[in-house]
Amino acid sequence: MIKIAPSILSADFAKLADEVKEVEAAGADWIHIDVMDGHFVPNITLGPVVVEALRPVTELPLDVHLMIENPDAYIEQFAKAGADYITVHVEACKHLHRTIQLIRSYGVKPGVVLNPHTPVEMIYHVLEDIDLVLFMTVNPGFGGQKFIHQVLPKVKQLSEHLKENGLSIDIEIDGGVNEETIKPCVEAGANVFVAGSAIYNAKDRKEALQNIKKSGES
Ligand code: DX5
Ligand code: ZN
Repeated sequence: MIKIAPSILSADFAKLADEVKEVEAAGADWIHIDVMDGHFVPNITLGPVVVEALRPVTELPLDVHLMIENPDAYIEQFAKAGADYITVHVEACKHLHRTIQLIRSYGVKPGVVLNPHTPVEMIYHVLEDIDLVLFMTVNPGFGGQKFIHQVLPKVKQLSEHLKENGLSIDIEIDGGVNEETIKPCVEAGANVFVAGSAIYNAKDRKEALQNIKKSGES
């Protein structure tokens, strides 16, 4: 089963609640929230107050992607704001196992994110502790970038490794996902897809979301 997680990064921030409700009605499975601090990535977006404001707006799981340095310092705030998933970058965590346990201690599902160049073996020793692996298929920081296809072998490698070890966790793809790029990702073993510009910049967002999903399922 394919899940689509529209990224609100490409939504109109002046009417965020409506933008979230619209994609929920269009068939979104999760809402992806991109948190950027201007240090880990060269852009600044939003913090826990926005997650808190969006919590009552939708029934969908809130998938909070932390592109920030020292994520441990903010996990409690994002958890209390209503995050269902919190994903942290392996490149930003000095003590990854501890960070994962911290997320779990608040009853939130932990996930780990890998930048396009980061070897997938970096997370082999935490796979039993997490619910989700997120592969960046663009360099994090901005919506609307081109899909980096060199990430696909890593996705396949993880998917095979999970099978060999009897593990079942979600594999999410973030960056440049559209009707075309979703196909090789599904073949490689991914099942959750973030899409920002391909949905929010479309004239008919429902049609765009449904077409991406159908393309992934076909
Ligand atoms: C990039 C963010 C993505 C981004 C995806 O740093 O993590 O979630 O919004 O946007 P698109 O789908 O436009 O590549
Ligand atoms: Zn993201």
